[in-house]
Amino acid sequence: MSSIDLSTNYMGLKLANPLVPSSSPLSRGIDSARRLEDAGASALVMYSLFEEELRNEEKMTARFLIHQTIGHGEAESFLPFDSHFQQGLDQYLEHLAALKNTLNIPVIASLNGISLNGWVENGRLLEEAGADALELNVYYLDTDLYETNMDVENRYLELLRVLRRRVDIPIAMKLSPYFSALPYFIKELENEGVDAVALFNRFYQPDIDIDNLQIIPQLHLSTSADALLAMRWIAILYGRVRLSMAATGGVHTAADVIKLLLAGADVTHLCATLLLHGPEQLTRIKAGLMAWMEQHEYASVKAMKGRLSQQFCADPESFERTNYIAVLDSYSSPPGMRR
Ligand SMILES: Cc1cc2nc3c(=O)[nH]c(=O)nc-3n(C[C@H](O)[C@H](O)[C@H](O)COP(=O)(O)O)c2cc1C
Repeated sequence: MSSIDLSTNYMGLKLANPLVPSSSPLSRGIDSARRLEDAGASALVMYSLFEEELRNEEKMTARFLIHQTIGHGEAESFLPFDSHFQQGLDQYLEHLAALKNTLNIPVIASLNGISLNGWVENGRLLEEAGADALELNVYYLDTDLYETNMDVENRYLELLRVLRRRVDIPIAMKLSPYFSALPYFIKELENEGVDAVALFNRFYQPDIDIDNLQIIPQLHLSTSADALLAMRWIAILYGRVRLSMAATGGVHTAADVIKLLLAGADVTHLCATLLLHGPEQLTRIKAGLMAWMEQHEYASVKAMKGRLSQQFCADPESFERTNYIAVLDSYSSPPGMRR
């Protein structure tokens, strides 16, 4: 096949391919952002502007995220020092403008917070500073015995309404996988004017240090197995919603990208694999995607999208409960173990 068309439309942004680095420390440096673009990123989601930062609180969620040992390889060289991290709104806006000056790809600014008291209105300033779109990450784990599922959903919807009133650029929401009626809720977000959903936020689980009897924050990076969660839900939603879908969490290889596109994703968001292997991992993934497309005679990403979604696959039940029974039945004990 002579030419392969990797282009995709993500919430109205015309992107050259479906590989988008997700919110991470890689967007903190102009050089690392440029390396991402050179390696093939079709857009860039910036690190988040956290509600807590805007409120000048001492403990920031982001600090917890960043100051863990996140492995080896290239990761350490991208991690910011403490002083770099005292960023408020002004510094975020400056950095956004600098990224826009340097890069040719769209830059998606990221707002991260949970409360309804106005911080999200800063979205307008991000738009004015040149953001091509906004990603709103409501990193919220409901632990209140008296808060209902409706309360939680309304929190998201209200934040979206405020932001929608403030900005004209596309809005994506990065969602938790823990909604009890996810398709209905996504439809509600669509009705309120969201342009895309990023499925899913990855929640970091605290661990217990059994020597010191302490709770310790942990950041375990994802593996490819994590991508199956988004793959299933994207496959179920494909063709039934109008909004764009980004797959986030566990996208490490070309095979992961291929599966997510076949399920129906418009773009794949990459983070851990880029922290581990550097921005150039994008070039390898892109080459792997193109080789697969050539081998399977797909001329475009558009033609691949949703081919194995629930609507189009030969066995739609495999995304639902029947699959659960079949999977349990398929288990065979290792030799020597009784069933
Ligand atoms: C070191 C680190 C920093 C991150 N910073 C942010 C952030 O500022 N805002 C955000 O929404 N997500 C942030 N994330 C989450 C990623 O964007 C991504 O959703 C998550 O890591 C799952 O993708 P992955 O499996 O490719 O790593 C961060 C993740 C890591 C590992």
